[in-house]
Amino acid sequence: MSADSEKDYSDFDKILNHTTELDLSSTPLATQVASELNKKSRLEKVSHPTPENTRIIAITNQKGGVGKTTTTVNIAASLAQGGKNILVIDLDPQGNCSTALGVNHESSIPSIYECLINSTPVNDIIQPCPDIKNLDVAPATINLSGSELELVSMVSRENRLKKCIKNYTDFRSNQGLPRYDFILIDCPPSLGLLTINAFTAADEILIPIQAQYYALEGLSQLLNTINLVKSQLNETQKPPLMLITMYDSRTNLSNDVVNDVHEHFPKQILNTIIPQAVRLSEAPSHAQTIITYEPDSIGALAYKEAAYEISTWNYRED
Ligand SMILES: Nc1ncnc2c1ncn2[C@@H]1O[C@H](COP(=O)(O)OP(=O)(O)OP(=O)(O)O)[C@@H](O)[C@H]1O
Ligand SMILES: [Mg+2]
Repeated sequence: MSADSEKDYSDFDKILNHTTELDLSSTPLATQVASELNKKSRLEKVSHPTPENTRIIAITNQKGGVGKTTTTVNIAASLAQGGKNILVIDLDPQGNCSTALGVNHESSIPSIYECLINSTPVNDIIQPCPDIKNLDVAPATINLSGSELELVSMVSRENRLKKCIKNYTDFRSNQGLPRYDFILIDCPPSLGLLTINAFTAADEILIPIQAQYYALEGLSQLLNTINLVKSQLNETQKPPLMLITMYDSRTNLSNDVVNDVHEHFPKQILNTIIPQAVRLSEAPSHAQTIITYEPDSIGALAYKEAAYEISTWNYRED
């Protein structure tokens, strides 16, 4: 859906609040608006189930700019607003996730880099997201860009993030602090040691797939890497889930990507599709997620729906 349709949507929203005579099936746009409003009222009523154990999910795709960070922060914010306790780990030296969640990530502050390289306790680097309750952030600074090289010669180099997380969750439990329901890891756009650390630490993987040309290029390499890590370091990891992002209903290309992913990975693709929406790209410049920046926009509704789908996802054994 385009920025234009988003604008029209809010106009219609106003109309709907002031008249009872609008025939919602009269035009395609009105039908779309009715569907968005239905979605909104449905999502207001849902509650996210509390997982039995902390679910650790890595959001990954070595392709750049496909919506990894946007997905991480908005799923995290949706789950936190739904009352879950959330930790977001920014594992990308760009620190975009830290920016979008409004936490400090200047190079001088202690960050996930110190945890990975110097074994600094995660507790020492955590910052609460200023706008959203129940949401903590382990920020990334630019220092993390050197860690790929530094990790190479370190002992147990693929397991360092897993160990940091385990030590921290044990610490919280010993201190009587609330357990995290979800830990989301925002990966960098590469398949280097940082990403391998995320794959080793995560029980689950979420792959955002941009509904654009070349979307599936590189996907088999990504899946091979995930399988390799699973077979050697993380046997209990679940099969990766996929989420279509930046979908533009006006283009055949977007529909082709959705159809391709459904055809090849029918059991791994979320039903929710994230539309191309200008508000989603504006929110980070206000150091916010779309969930606080514009909670009723189509982008926010889509991410709330995706969060609900993830929180209730039933991994089938076959
Ligand atoms: N659904 C969307 N509609 C419009 N813009 C979007 C959408 N999702 C993300 N964007 C914008 O696209 C750009 C890339 O998104 P994002 O940073 O989430 O991707 P990424 O995969 O994390 O990138 P990188 O590989 O650099 O880490 C950002 O400017 C973001 O605001
Ligand atoms: Mg990113």
